[in-house]
Amino acid sequence: TRIDKAGHKHFMAKEIAEQPGVIGAALGHYLTPEGEISLPGKGIDFTNIDRITMVACGTAFYACLTAKYWFEQIARIPVEVDVASEFRYREPPVPDRTLAIFVSQSGETADTLAALRYCEGRARTIAAVVNVPESSIARESDLALPIHAGVEVGVASTKAFTCQLSVLFMLALKAARDRGEISTEAFADHISALRGLPAVISNALEQNDALREASRKLAAARDVLFLGRGPMYPLALEGALKLKEISYIHAEGYASGELKHGPIALIDENVPVVVMAPRDALFDKTVSNMQEVMARKGKVVLISDQTGLAEAGEGVWAQIEMPHCADALTPILYAIPAQLLAYHTAVAKGTDVDQPRNLAKSVTVE
Ligand code: G6P
Repeated sequence: TRIDKAGHKHFMAKEIAEQPGVIGAALGHYLTPEGEISLPGKGIDFTNIDRITMVACGTAFYACLTAKYWFEQIARIPVEVDVASEFRYREPPVPDRTLAIFVSQSGETADTLAALRYCEGRARTIAAVVNVPESSIARESDLALPIHAGVEVGVASTKAFTCQLSVLFMLALKAARDRGEISTEAFADHISALRGLPAVISNALEQNDALREASRKLAAARDVLFLGRGPMYPLALEGALKLKEISYIHAEGYASGELKHGPIALIDENVPVVVMAPRDALFDKTVSNMQEVMARKGKVVLISDQTGLAEAGEGVWAQIEMPHCADALTPILYAIPAQLLAYHTAVAKGTDVDQPRNLAKSVTVE
């Protein structure tokens, strides 16, 4: 089938807009009508492992960093995450009771494939979270977990990221269930939050105009900083990656708590700071970092929910309101403003959004 832009100006815009549907499809492949999670094929025996190692590149790497929070907090399994190019040459010990998870949209990234081969005969189980089920990474793993995002054309990954996150969240939930780490009630709450996720994502997409407005301001910047805490930290990294990939503005993601260990030295009225802060248990901490930025005349784009904006939005440069959603799922939700900020900034600058210079969709050489 021929893939077209379906009326959008760019494939990236189309792929961003498709997310409620494809996330719904991904959920539909793993959630049973009874409210359980079922994995394809022989599944994964989560009672048979002591640790997880996750390996990927680029945006898929940030999906792994996010999933680490879920596997550790919900399923209580220790997780290590590596970029594939580091993992493969470090020759890390892989204890026998290790589940190795490789995440790759294309399933063909050379470094990720090499890292997978290194784990063969070492890890107990090798699972691949992929968008292309016929890919090398899928074929060489014990179990392929498709993300069902559909063909992704834009070089900067968008819908594959949120589908990777959705599948990884379900894996963490399944691991927690199988290992007896979660009550029936808490499990059911997570399942019902998941079922509501496509609607919440649609709601977030309605912030498009506000994000376009904020992007007009970002387009004039030379450097942009993204801050987040807890599972919002990998989202800050992803927001910065998206922005630099397609708008060519230098951007860095930082853990909010690390602000005073370096990047605060850069803050002045010329450096916009995007703060990703849902009103969760870590909110007050992030807000106090945000205030350190504002005290140095930094211009803040605050992305939060209604309550968070009401509490902390005063005096910020721009506010983006996200719908309310279960705390555990906010990383998936906050991917939307990260993507749209990058997209509209790139459009405002007139760059080639779908084919950014020097980048390739799939990196099959080292
Ligand atoms: C390239 C793409 C990124 C992608 C990364 C990993 O750098 O531009 O969007 O995240 O490769 O690709 P993979 O197919 O392994 O997810």
